[in-house]
Amino acid sequence: MDHSATTPVHPDVLEAMSPYFTEKFGNASSLHHAGRIARDAVESARQTIADYFKCEPKEIIFTGGGTESDNFALFGTARANKEKGNHIITSTIEHHAILNTCHRLEKDGFEITYLPVDENGTVILEELKKAIKPETILISIMHVNNEVGSIQPLGEIGRIAREHKIIFHTDAVQSVGKIKTELNKLPVDLMSFSGHKLYGPKGIGGLFIRHGTRITPIQYGGHHEFRKRAGTENVPGIVGLARAIEIAKSNLDSEGNRLSSLRDRLEKGISARIEDIRINGIGAKRLPNMLNISFKYVEGEGIILNLDSFGICVSSGSACTSESLEPSHVLSAMGVPVAEAHGSIRFSLGKDNAETDIDFTVDCMVKIINKLRQMSPLYHKK
Ligand SMILES: Cc1ncc(COP(=O)(O)O)c(C=O)c1O
Repeated sequence: MDHSATTPVHPDVLEAMSPYFTEKFGNASSLHHAGRIARDAVESARQTIADYFKCEPKEIIFTGGGTESDNFALFGTARANKEKGNHIITSTIEHHAILNTCHRLEKDGFEITYLPVDENGTVILEELKKAIKPETILISIMHVNNEVGSIQPLGEIGRIAREHKIIFHTDAVQSVGKIKTELNKLPVDLMSFSGHKLYGPKGIGGLFIRHGTRITPIQYGGHHEFRKRAGTENVPGIVGLARAIEIAKSNLDSEGNRLSSLRDRLEKGISARIEDIRINGIGAKRLPNMLNISFKYVEGEGIILNLDSFGICVSSGSACTSESLEPSHVLSAMGVPVAEAHGSIRFSLGKDNAETDIDFTVDCMVKIINKLRQMSPLYHKK
């Protein structure tokens, strides 16, 4: 139940990738037949992904994953547009792939505005409008938050960006393959995505760059990826990413409905049997598979370890921050009190979860929370 951290590679994805490690191992830049086979596979994957996103194949650039795509989008537009201005707007609830890139850009002389969010983890549009200045060159707001699943109003944000001729990037690592990301409708200029969140392999991702967007490469070498991203193409990864996207496309609505009814069952089961909880982001439009709950008087780490002993995997905060003792920056931005943020768990459901798993998890949660609260001095003082 930790599919927002990563997902297993779908068996059909693995099957599609397999020949590109062995008999079709060519370098896509080579002129001979082995190279042409690899090149055809890369371009056919690019076409598949472009068809799904409803954009041009040339607008898809393959990268080494979501983090690289986010770095490329931010550093690449900052460097290419610095004559126009040095101001960038993002939000307080972004993934660290964005936040830490912004911190680096601050050291390089850029000014960053971190927009606040409401109590459901949604960016406040009025605050965005107020933050825009003549020097603003980029707005970067994620599509779906990775801790609570809140879906951001990309349409409105994009329209505001266009009115002011500001480039708009979205980190869609959590949304691609789960909800629609149609680029003929979404007014975004740059969009990051990653293979391992949608049953594809790790270490492959992409950046959509709308035709005409001013961006410079962040790594230099050969003339790969239309001279935008140097480095020999990860052919098996690219083939796997396209196959994963094809599979997601074929069952987007049915799987979304199935997961949201499982999520609701989990939410209702826990709410009915455990008191003193807070469902984070409940008032927002949420990703169908995500549920973030704060359990008062207990620590998230205690819950994770106890659930793990029952064979259930979940996260507290995002996978990347779960080793830190800071409360989640996302829950803090939503105004969740520190003590409650420390007792928060993210469940993120996926293709192999079934109703029996949900019911088992609810039973385990009841036992675990009772046990942890019995040991909690705060609970006895309440
Ligand atoms: C919203 C978001 N952005 C970026 C990333 C980083 O992606 P990757 O693991 O492919 O580098 C993640 C991964 O957790 C994420 O959830």
